Amino acid sequence: MRIGVFGAGYVGLVTAVCLAELGHLLQVVEVDERKVEKLNNGTNTIYEPGLDELLESNIGRGNIYFTNDSRSVIEHSEVIFLCVGTPPMPDGSADLSQIETAVQDIIRYTRADEYKLVVVKSTVPVGTSKWVREIIHNETRDRRINIEVASNPEFLREGTAVSDFMNPDRIVMGVVSERARTILGSVYESFECPKIFTTPETSEIIKYAANSFLATKISFINMVADLCEEVGADVSLVAEGMGYDKRIGREFLRAGIGFGGSCFPKDLQAFLHVGKSKSLDFGLLEQVISINEQRPVRVVSKLTSHLNGLNGKLITVLGLAFKSNTDDVRESPAAKLIKLLVQEGAVVKATDPLSIDNFKRMYPDLVEKVSFFENANEAIGGSHAAIVVTDWKEYKNLDWRRIRERMIRPIVYDTRNFLNAEEMLGCNFEYLAIGKNYTQMTGTLV
Ligand code: UDX
Repeated sequence: MRIGVFGAGYVGLVTAVCLAELGHLLQVVEVDERKVEKLNNGTNTIYEPGLDELLESNIGRGNIYFTNDSRSVIEHSEVIFLCVGTPPMPDGSADLSQIETAVQDIIRYTRADEYKLVVVKSTVPVGTSKWVREIIHNETRDRRINIEVASNPEFLREGTAVSDFMNPDRIVMGVVSERARTILGSVYESFECPKIFTTPETSEIIKYAANSFLATKISFINMVADLCEEVGADVSLVAEGMGYDKRIGREFLRAGIGFGGSCFPKDLQAFLHVGKSKSLDFGLLEQVISINEQRPVRVVSKLTSHLNGLNGKLITVLGLAFKSNTDDVRESPAAKLIKLLVQEGAVVKATDPLSIDNFKRMYPDLVEKVSFFENANEAIGGSHAAIVVTDWKEYKNLDWRRIRERMIRPIVYDTRNFLNAEEMLGCNFEYLAIGKNYTQMTGTLV
């Protein structure tokens, strides 16, 4: 099929390249001309394992083309996916201006007697598809064009987005006509997974509810971790003990410094805003957000008491990306942590294998207050403490025994419970973790 995509960001680029890989003919609207040029030369503009090869091969096969000319993409396409940004507004609601701009273009450039299926893949508040339908209805009354709207939320995790797209747990499609159901169904014809056809409203809520529930699991286990620290229990074993229950599951019960990224924080705020706008009690989500926001505060408070104050102390932050295998630093816990460390007077050094440039661009106010190192070994030398914030595999493989000799105090705070605790304790580190209190723990770790 001839498919158009608006937006070549983390979602749009993965969606477009994977649909091209499946044999569809893709044209992608991207406003950033430098990105357009790079992508048409087969150069990827985001870090996403496996995407480079797919982009290059589909550019080579002529299956995909990037442009900032929305008209040509609209005229090319029978199905148009909207994968534009829906960033949070100050009140937490989603900013839908990029959606509206794309829809206006589609209205403007759809010719008489043509049919277009507009598919909203961006994460949008419930009711957005209806709102788009109303815009189209009001602005095309006197024209013989037929533009339908469907919802098709994505469930892609950064770092595994290509695999998540090609091997989805399910595909959710919110449609209002048999024609839209047939057309959207044929886009995903080659997928064997469960396909849920429903209304756009149900589809939109599935996305927000799924992300909000995943975030709730994380804040729940982080709440439990606080108790474990007080009583000398081990939160990882608590999570394991819980997870054997198939109704609970093992995933997303890893205690840590909290969730970040461009989805959970934004989606929780938007879902909360929608609930409040209907005068519903969505207080649960407020607690999920509050527990998450407390995570970096709790880490700094514990480190402060461990070091009897942070003023003038050299602290190294290991990891700036909001999770490993991505260069995305949006809503990164590292940024919140560094701001708190600086407020306490600490002298902060930071390192990350991929994200330093993105971090400097996104948090310019921190650039002058932090020393950045490409090399983790170098960054840790001479520190009073090192805080593991992102679970980069390379931090597991550091020569911690050698590193210990070069630190002023051998304190490692593993806020992802990611390192080998026994090895760290065996190297006589003052090893701090989340939801585990080694000074109190009795018995041996399983
Ligand atoms: C998430 C959803 O998983 C995905 O389905 C949706 O489409 C987009 O949002 P993403 O934000 O890319 O994906 O990353 P994810 O792997 O979900 O992690 C989100 C955050 O939660 C990260 O900061 C991660 O470190 C944290 N996390 C995850 C935990 O703290 N504990 C866990 O057990 C799992």
